[in-house]
Amino acid sequence: MKVLVYGSGGRDHCLSDKYGDSQHVDKVFFAPGNPGVSYTPKGKRGLIERIPIKDLNEIADFCVDRNIDLVDVGSENPLEEGLVDILNERGIRTVGPKKEFVRLESDRAFTDDLLRKIGVPKPEYRVFDDPANASEYVRNIGYQVVVKANGLAAGKGAIVCDDVPDAEAAIEKIMVKKVFGESGNRVVIEERKYGTEISFFAYLDGMHVMPLKTFAQDYKPAFDPDDKELIDHFGGNLNTGGTGCYCPHKLVSPWLVNRIIKEIVNPTVNAIYNDLGWAYKGVIYFGLNLDPYDRLDVFEINVRHGDPEWPVIARKLSTDLFEIGMAVWDGTLDRITQVWNKQHYVDVIGMEGRSKASKGWNKGYPGRYGKGHKILDLDKIEKGVAIFFAGVDENPEKGLVTYGGRALHVIAGDSTLKGARDKAYRNIELLAFEDHNNNGANCLRFRKTIGL
Ligand code: GLY
Repeated sequence: MKVLVYGSGGRDHCLSDKYGDSQHVDKVFFAPGNPGVSYTPKGKRGLIERIPIKDLNEIADFCVDRNIDLVDVGSENPLEEGLVDILNERGIRTVGPKKEFVRLESDRAFTDDLLRKIGVPKPEYRVFDDPANASEYVRNIGYQVVVKANGLAAGKGAIVCDDVPDAEAAIEKIMVKKVFGESGNRVVIEERKYGTEISFFAYLDGMHVMPLKTFAQDYKPAFDPDDKELIDHFGGNLNTGGTGCYCPHKLVSPWLVNRIIKEIVNPTVNAIYNDLGWAYKGVIYFGLNLDPYDRLDVFEINVRHGDPEWPVIARKLSTDLFEIGMAVWDGTLDRITQVWNKQHYVDVIGMEGRSKASKGWNKGYPGRYGKGHKILDLDKIEKGVAIFFAGVDENPEKGLVTYGGRALHVIAGDSTLKGARDKAYRNIELLAFEDHNNNGANCLRFRKTIGL
């Protein structure tokens, strides 16, 4: 069988890798992909091949010409542009929702209203199209809020606020300065919740739902709590979408998994199938908060695998991903058995840190960061530790170099969480991003507290 994964980030690289593990699959195409894949064992063997085609119609032509058996669309933008619809019209099997169903992620206000209507718990919220009205609201409600761009923002569109000035600054950033582009024409202002973040996933096949029986914890802030200088410089600990992750979450238990399925997953999927009438086929991500009083709340729904949650969950999942993907397409998820290994996994993201610019310094991701830094010592990584690439490029002289702020994931597994943490950190410490403007100093930065 031949699979094509559409996407270019770490989650998409990981999807390609997981399909490559399937007993049914002898070739995975990764489009438009990233050049990092050819530096990994499956890339070197040709099991995964990068196809640098971006255009959606050209992808459909490629799939028809090469008899691709299944396409998994990893990221939200091509889903919103209708890649699944284009492929299905050409008779190609897919994993991922149709364009219309992407609204669950691309229109927070729509999803919040749906959840409120069906009684799925979520924080208090209000929707605003006008920044002056939004500011007046935050001046008057008294409690802390999170200000969220309504549209797609690559998992980064939420600003967590401590007080009214923070909230007004967030409204200005999103609605006036448009830091997340047109996604910020409308904002959702939500009550800030405290507690533990949970990333929960379920596969849907248009008829059934298969909630995954384990879950992960994502680390969204850019810095560790004691990175005071950087936090001050950026005016707060910015939300990046993910700087690391671990699985299983310390709170995983059959009791909590059942509660999440009963209180959140089943009513939401029921509303998708029966109230909206959508035959949704793909994965759904539920971003949840469990507060100190054991109350669960949904703070976001995405129509794709989480990044960096998927790399740790995928390594723990022993069920053949091609069998899951085909069941999503065929409407036979009820016949799939979930098998999970007993390991713990930790994913630490290697980011662009402080580097020398032509004038002055780059502070590094999530602020201005340098590019083109050679990635050193990949060959030192221990066997069994996975590297998935995200923001990387290839340079004719240097080989693999950094290109994005989050360049790579280092994922390690062990029978204990501590063992997995130690292994992930031992390995990321072997790597370096060579700052050519600063005598080859290492400008790789990573958070130190993932999994703690
Ligand atoms: N980790 C959150 C996301 O994928 O958006």
